[in-house]
Amino acid sequence: MKVDVLLGLQWGDEGKGKVVDVLTPGYDVVTRFQGGPNAGHTLEFGGQKYVLRSIPSGIFQGGKMNIIGNGVVLDPILFRQEAEALAESGHDLTKQLCISKKAHLIMPTHRILDAAYEAAKGDAKVGTTGKGIGPTYTDKISRNGLRVGDLLFGFDEKYAIAKGKHEVILQGLNYKYDVAALEKEWFDALEYLKKFKFIDSEHVINNLLKEGKSVLAEGAQGTMLDVDFGSYPFVTSSNTICAGACSGLGIAPRNIGEVYGIFKAYCTRVGAGPFPTELFDETGDKLGRLGHEFGAVTGRKRRCGWIDLVALRYAIMINGVTNLIMMKSDVLDSFETIKVCVAYKINGQETEEFPFDICEEVEPVYAELPGWRTDMTQMISEDEFPEEFNAYINFLEEELGVPIKIVSVGPDREQTIIRNEEE
Ligand code: GDP
Ligand code: IMO
Ligand code: MG
Repeated sequence: MKVDVLLGLQWGDEGKGKVVDVLTPGYDVVTRFQGGPNAGHTLEFGGQKYVLRSIPSGIFQGGKMNIIGNGVVLDPILFRQEAEALAESGHDLTKQLCISKKAHLIMPTHRILDAAYEAAKGDAKVGTTGKGIGPTYTDKISRNGLRVGDLLFGFDEKYAIAKGKHEVILQGLNYKYDVAALEKEWFDALEYLKKFKFIDSEHVINNLLKEGKSVLAEGAQGTMLDVDFGSYPFVTSSNTICAGACSGLGIAPRNIGEVYGIFKAYCTRVGAGPFPTELFDETGDKLGRLGHEFGAVTGRKRRCGWIDLVALRYAIMINGVTNLIMMKSDVLDSFETIKVCVAYKINGQETEEFPFDICEEVEPVYAELPGWRTDMTQMISEDEFPEEFNAYINFLEEELGVPIKIVSVGPDREQTIIRNEEE
């Protein structure tokens, strides 16, 4: 069997958590391959709402095995909060969830460094989630990181060395901090972490594939936040793209199967950085209001705008997307007309190619389509789709060259329509 990958094609928060939960019954294993608690993946079912940060979104579907892969960065404090909250609501994860020994640990000083680097950037700050993601990946790449497997041997010494290096940097930045308070909680949380099985996940996953088991890899963030291909430097610090699943799980490219690319019927972004189709008017406010566009982790207001096909085509190319999933169509239910950015105009030149830098000169070129002005939230089949909605998805499919297989019409698990089921 192969690993299917589900990943975001925009700037994150596309609805990955919801769809992973919906697709999990078709898989034996669900795994995260990058990112960390900067992610906030929301799932709704049975009148309950859950937000997952480090734990894969397959955790609620009938005792499936869930794996936190080597490419993930893990904060023991936030992991403990997340796992304990789930245990309180009746989901004991200790038997279902395994953690790669090669996943890197977010230290208390990583969080402090994240804040210190942001403060040092002043107006040019990225607007990170403040979870220590950048500094932890920096330490991984510069060969200074601590891994989950290090907990098994000589940990205290490795911790002291790593912390000492951070303290030198913080002094250099002249940044005031107090690590002692966080440190006690962190070490307590490490003891809690040891309740979970630490595994050589690359062996486990490859063996599962050989045994014919199916694996779904759940991306975090989105392609436009990828450290190589996103709107650098306003990006996260990991490879959020499909190739990240290979390095973040230890699987060969030929073992990638379907690639599910997920996008909102419009577009949002949280944090700083360019966003060509951003709306600063009443329409942008309306998208935010109807879509409840507030960060699942930070509560920050998400910036809203029209869908951007230049960025989406680019994301589809980079990831080799085989199936598209369109989320939050219901948010557009009441719009008279809907705009779709089909090209960029840069210094008077029109282009459909995503540029090196989405600078201020980028001006979106829009096509305008009629809205469907119908409440779609109770629909259960594509046969019920209004004509204008069909025209909208046909237009997108034609422009993007990939079929839209799933349409989401509300936050609940049930509000999901699989298209062309008979095929
Ligand atoms: P993720 O990070 O990609 O998992 O997405 P988030 O959970 O951060 O943000 C998606 C938000 O949209 C969550 O609040 C979901 O409950 C909600 N959501 C998901 N799908 C739909 C949908 O089709 N319609 C509406 N109205 N909300 C949705
Ligand atoms: P999910 O998985 C949306 C953004 C931050 C910031 C930039 C860098 O829920 O889609 P970081 O803390 O990663 O160093 O921040 O990336 N960002 C996200 N935006 N959804 C996310 O995750 C994000 N994770 C990080 O807002 O602009
Ligand atoms: Mg999110």
